Amino acid sequence: MAPLKQDGPLVLVPTMGALHEGHLDLVRLGSQLGQVVVTVFVNPTQFGPNEDFGSYPRTLERDLELLSQLPVAGVFSPDTSEIYGAGLEVTVQPGHRGLGLCGGDRPGHFAGVLTVVAKLFGLIQPDIAIFGRKDAQQCLVIGQMVEDLKMPIQLVDASTRREPDGLAMSSRNRYLSESQRRQALCLSKALQAGKEAIVDGCRSRSEIQNTMLDLLQEADLVEYAEVRQVPGLGDDEIISGRTLLAVAAKVGPARLIDNFVLEINPENMVTDSYLLGTGRES
Ligand code: PAF
Repeated sequence: MAPLKQDGPLVLVPTMGALHEGHLDLVRLGSQLGQVVVTVFVNPTQFGPNEDFGSYPRTLERDLELLSQLPVAGVFSPDTSEIYGAGLEVTVQPGHRGLGLCGGDRPGHFAGVLTVVAKLFGLIQPDIAIFGRKDAQQCLVIGQMVEDLKMPIQLVDASTRREPDGLAMSSRNRYLSESQRRQALCLSKALQAGKEAIVDGCRSRSEIQNTMLDLLQEADLVEYAEVRQVPGLGDDEIISGRTLLAVAAKVGPARLIDNFVLEINPENMVTDSYLLGTGRES
């Protein structure tokens, strides 16, 4: 990519393309913080052998058209050889935050994510990088990489964009038929039920997880319904402070994830919260 004439902080929005309004929110938020560079790269190393790398939607022309309507300084859409041409000897492995949740269901996934994100950071050298809060564990794993490897980059997690009925926007929603689309609402309903239990005073991790699991049964295959502490992803039975409610399930051909991040303050008030830094809403 040609060097940009720097005008304020350089803000990276890494994506795998198939852009939807959720991605565009990241770009809009980024443009309030500095000059935005969007990367579009379907990263093979973060997909398992039986996952959807081959069928992952690739819509570069449409992505570029959408981005041309926003204040974007540059789009970087490398070939696999540009990113992995030199081979894959040195990789970045996640720490404990990569264990369990999606890390349990998708072995090697976070090593693939961290390795490509580290490469993109090296190539673009952003001051700020923005990630979607829907990939909560990804945000926290990247947060630990940046902290532990002393990368001079400020991370921001942007809130999840939802359809009017609550379904979290995802590039994988396009795999769903109309009836599967309705079935997929069980993810956000499970989170809503978990949140209501907390607002009503429940502080038991296992009870909240069971409440979410009940609603998630409508999916074809439940992967997890978990309550964890933020940012360390600890699993104490009595919850307090910043808390992640996270669910993953298969509906038809799509593996879907969703989460709520909540803050339970010392006065027992429950508010929406964030994962990284000091939080910002898109
Ligand atoms: O969230 C994604 O789209 C991807 O995991 C990312 C961060 C672009 C790395 O490939």
